[in-house]
Amino acid sequence: MIKVSGCISEIKSQIKEWKRQGLSIGLVPTMGYLHEGHQSLIERAVKENDRVVVSIFVNPIQFAPGEDLESYPRDIKKDTVLCEQTGAHLIFNPTPEEMYPNGFSTNVTMNGLTKELCGKTRPTHFGGVCTVVSKLFNITAPDRAYFGEKDAQQLAIIKRMVKDLNFDLEIVGCPIVREKDGLAKSSRNTYLNATERKAALILSKAISLGKEMVKNGERSSAAVIKAMTEKIETEPLAKIDYVNIVNAENIEPVDTISGSILAAIAVYIGKTRLIDNFMITV
Ligand code: PAJ
Repeated sequence: MIKVSGCISEIKSQIKEWKRQGLSIGLVPTMGYLHEGHQSLIERAVKENDRVVVSIFVNPIQFAPGEDLESYPRDIKKDTVLCEQTGAHLIFNPTPEEMYPNGFSTNVTMNGLTKELCGKTRPTHFGGVCTVVSKLFNITAPDRAYFGEKDAQQLAIIKRMVKDLNFDLEIVGCPIVREKDGLAKSSRNTYLNATERKAALILSKAISLGKEMVKNGERSSAAVIKAMTEKIETEPLAKIDYVNIVNAENIEPVDTISGSILAAIAVYIGKTRLIDNFMITV
């Protein structure tokens, strides 16, 4: 049986024991309600490490007031089965009080990489992510940690943070896992009703369109952004938060597409905010 613990000291002593035995450790940080996207990260971690820890924690400090902290879907029983079947060894499932006890006063702040994309419309979000991920790194002392390209800005930020703060681990980025019809898998897809679920396809359609344009030689960011925007606007239920093209490493906007770029979109389908992206090196 896979072990589930919400207790930091218990997790730390298990990690210490594994380290004493010379075993390598992989960490997959998640907020739970696991799907095949998360599962692909766990599978990769299982392949590359002797022991795999999955953290499941809906991190309150990365949600702003009015966002979906309370309604965020949770199902620890189902998540436990998925983790066990995928070969993980330990689930860390703390309470907010265990992670942020009374008197908690320290935060990790990102100065760069947060001005564009999700950082623009969710200004407190990445500070919350960096703080919790730093804590998870310190608690589980992994050799490798696995993050999805689905959240490409988050992945770039975590890579930068690891470099800046000298965390001694490798960050592994994993490709976006999609539904058969193209919609990027997300725990938030459960918010969509049947009509919205159909409308949500406009995100992956816009992504495919943009990617094709770049593959076919278009090098003007403005032209690609315009075409993707117009595509999304054909869907009446869609409301654009942003469509942008940035340097994939430093998340600064680019006028001309060259090197490694990230084209990223955030779109409301009804009340649900969905994100998607493509990265390409030209
Ligand atoms: P969460 O949204 O649960 O995602 C956990 C990890 O799964 C992230 O690295 C995310 O990029 C990856 N992921 C989600 N959907 C994916 C998909 N369709 N394909 C590939 N990977 C996918 O991201 C977070 O949680 C939190 O911000 C966290 C890092 C855990 C900090 O609280």
